[in-house]
Amino acid sequence: MFIFDDFDKNNNFSIKLMMWVKNVKKINFKTNSPYEILIDTNLMRTSGDHIKKISSARQVLIITDDVVNELYSGDVTDSLIESGFEVFLFTLTHGESSKTLQSVERIYSFLIKNKFTRSDLIIALGGGIVGDIAGFVAATYMRGIDLVQIPTTLLAQIDSAIGGKNGVNLAHGKNLIGTFYQPKLVLIDIGVLSTLPKQSLSDGMAEAIKYGLIRSESLFNMIKNRELDDILTDLIFECISIKQELVERDELEQGERKLLNFGHTLGHAIEKFYNFSKYTHGQAVAIGMACTVRSGENLAITKSGTYEELTSVLRKYNLPCEIDCDMDKLAEIAKIDKKATGEFFDIVLIKSIGSGFVKRIKKDDLKKYIGG
Ligand code: GLY
Repeated sequence: MFIFDDFDKNNNFSIKLMMWVKNVKKINFKTNSPYEILIDTNLMRTSGDHIKKISSARQVLIITDDVVNELYSGDVTDSLIESGFEVFLFTLTHGESSKTLQSVERIYSFLIKNKFTRSDLIIALGGGIVGDIAGFVAATYMRGIDLVQIPTTLLAQIDSAIGGKNGVNLAHGKNLIGTFYQPKLVLIDIGVLSTLPKQSLSDGMAEAIKYGLIRSESLFNMIKNRELDDILTDLIFECISIKQELVERDELEQGERKLLNFGHTLGHAIEKFYNFSKYTHGQAVAIGMACTVRSGENLAITKSGTYEELTSVLRKYNLPCEIDCDMDKLAEIAKIDKKATGEFFDIVLIKSIGSGFVKRIKKDDLKKYIGG
């Protein structure tokens, strides 16, 4: 085993979530290069067996962060070694500040130094940040090396680890550099959610609520009316199914896939405005969704009462609904976004719960749609 550490040891995992699992699920994701998503418990310990079936790599690089490393690298590494892989580990400092081209370059150097070829494999073991960086490295190292995603947060399991988006931040904004590059396999071990801090679960719930708002009133109602412990497996499956439908029809985000960005236009601007330190991604998206729904009601686009319903669900999951910040500044930051095309901007709005749509607006009108 070859290890590269690059982190501060500042681990604060404590909250235990009680849950039981009803049944194991498998999803066949039919993108241009199709792959399987397995949802189960104990997938960390059996990861080698599953990966062996889809890869003939000799060397495997696990990219992770310092927090996840302490918890799960051991199980995954042991399993990979048992399956005959030579395993390398690259550990990033946890947090958004690692999501840079500098991190990417350090990983490229590590790969080169250890003679990784295009037939080898990268595993993203972690949350959305690790998945985005590892995905970008895999997509670009020698024009593409196979990737397996093993997401360890709810947010990554239901959203960022599936569908093939990756990226890093620039000083100008979030996720401005990236590619679409599908993994060869996604292993969703729901057992790991029992080690997540409450805040991390809340962040995931922001994305789950998003899925309900844009596509499924029944999912939204399940989230609203039932306890998370009882619905977790179904919730993960439902969210992935919605993403699957949108991504399979629009892999490169030319149309419908844009719906998945609901709340993210303002959300990304909030994260950037506070230098990724005041609000987590989930919190920023929660505020983004609430402000956009409130504006939608004011503009008579969104059914009245939706804001009230949304904010009560956001509160249930300990997510913020409001922000006290200069909206002109946020709107200016929000305009530097991949959803901008020339003078126009494709914004996602909600007609009613379960019914999102994309509207092309003038860039200068952005503020009035995102809470201005
Ligand atoms: N996270 C939004 C997407 O994958 O399209």
